[in-house]
Amino acid sequence: MTKLLIALALAAGCSFGNAQTQTYPNRPITLVVPFAAGGPTDTIARIMAERLRQSLGQTVVVENTTGAAGTIGVARVARAAPDGYTIGIGHWSTHVVNPAIYPLQYDVLNDFEPISLIADNPQLVVSKTSIPANNLQELIAWVKQNQDKVSVGTAGAGAASHISGVYFQNTIGVKLQFIPYRGAGPALQDVIGGQLDLMFDQAANSLPHVRGGKLKAYAVTAKVRLPAAPEIPTVDEAGLPGLYISIWHALWVPKGTPKEIVTRLLAATREALADPTVRKRLADLGQEIPSLEQQSPEALRAHHKAELDKWLPIIKAMGIKPEG
Ligand code: MLT
Repeated sequence: MTKLLIALALAAGCSFGNAQTQTYPNRPITLVVPFAAGGPTDTIARIMAERLRQSLGQTVVVENTTGAAGTIGVARVARAAPDGYTIGIGHWSTHVVNPAIYPLQYDVLNDFEPISLIADNPQLVVSKTSIPANNLQELIAWVKQNQDKVSVGTAGAGAASHISGVYFQNTIGVKLQFIPYRGAGPALQDVIGGQLDLMFDQAANSLPHVRGGKLKAYAVTAKVRLPAAPEIPTVDEAGLPGLYISIWHALWVPKGTPKEIVTRLLAATREALADPTVRKRLADLGQEIPSLEQQSPEALRAHHKAELDKWLPIIKAMGIKPEG
C-alpha cells in the first residue's frame, strides 16, 4: 500500500514537472548580467535578449546585479530556482578567473547547467585622447615617465580589464593605479571623460568610441587583427608580444534545470546566433560567433573546463587580492 502511494506521488510530481516543462516559458525570463549597464556584457546580453524574446515568445528582462568582479550576479544565478526563468550570462573572468581570487559560495563548473557559448572578443589597449602617444611603444614610454600616477579603470579586482592591466604592469616593470568600477561601462566613461588614463577593455565596449574619435586604441590582445577594426595592430605587432586575452561569453542556468528547458533555451540561442541582424550587430562589436558545433552545452562545458585547467594556476600566481 505504502509503495503504491509513493509510486502515485512520484507519478504526480513527474507529471507536474512535465506540465511545467511543456508550458515553458509562460512568464518573463530574467537574464542576469553581473556587470553594470552599458558595458560589454550588458551590450551582448541586450542583443541576445531581444532576439531570444522572438524565439521564446516571452520577454527576456535584463537585470544588472553588479559588484565584486561579477561574483554577486553569478551567485544570484547559482541560488535561483532551476526552472528556466533565471539565466545568467558570464564570461572568461566571471567563470574562470574569479575562483582563483575570490572565496566563492558556488562552484563555477558544477553549480550550473551550461547552455552555449555565444561570442568571443579580445580586448583593446585604449587611452584618453589627451595622452601624447601615437603607438604602443610611445604609450609604454609615457607610462614609464609618469609611473605611480597612471590610472587604469577596471571592472573589479580580477575582471578581465584588471588581469590584462596587471600583465602589462608586470611586463613593462611599472606600478599602476587600478581603479575598480562595477563594470567596464562606467569605467570607460571616465576614460572618455579624461578622469582615467588607460583601460584594457573588451572591443565590444571601446570599439564604437574608438571609431567616434573619443579614445585612442594602441593594440588588440589577439594573435590576429580584428576584422571589425583592421587598422589596430595586434600586441605582437605593437610590441607587447604574447598578451593574448580572449573574453568568451556564454549562457548558463542553475544546476538542476530540466533538460527539456535547457534544450529549449539552446534552440532559441542557436536561432539568435543564426539571425543575420544579430550576427552583424555582434560582428560590428568585434565579436567572433562560435561555430554551430561549439553552440552546445557539451562544447561549453569542455571549453570551460579546459580554460579553468589552463588559467587557474596562472591567475593564482599573479597574487591578486579580492575587492574589500
Ligand atoms: C563588463 O561588462 O563590465 C565586463 O564584461 C567586465 C570585464 O571586462 O571584465
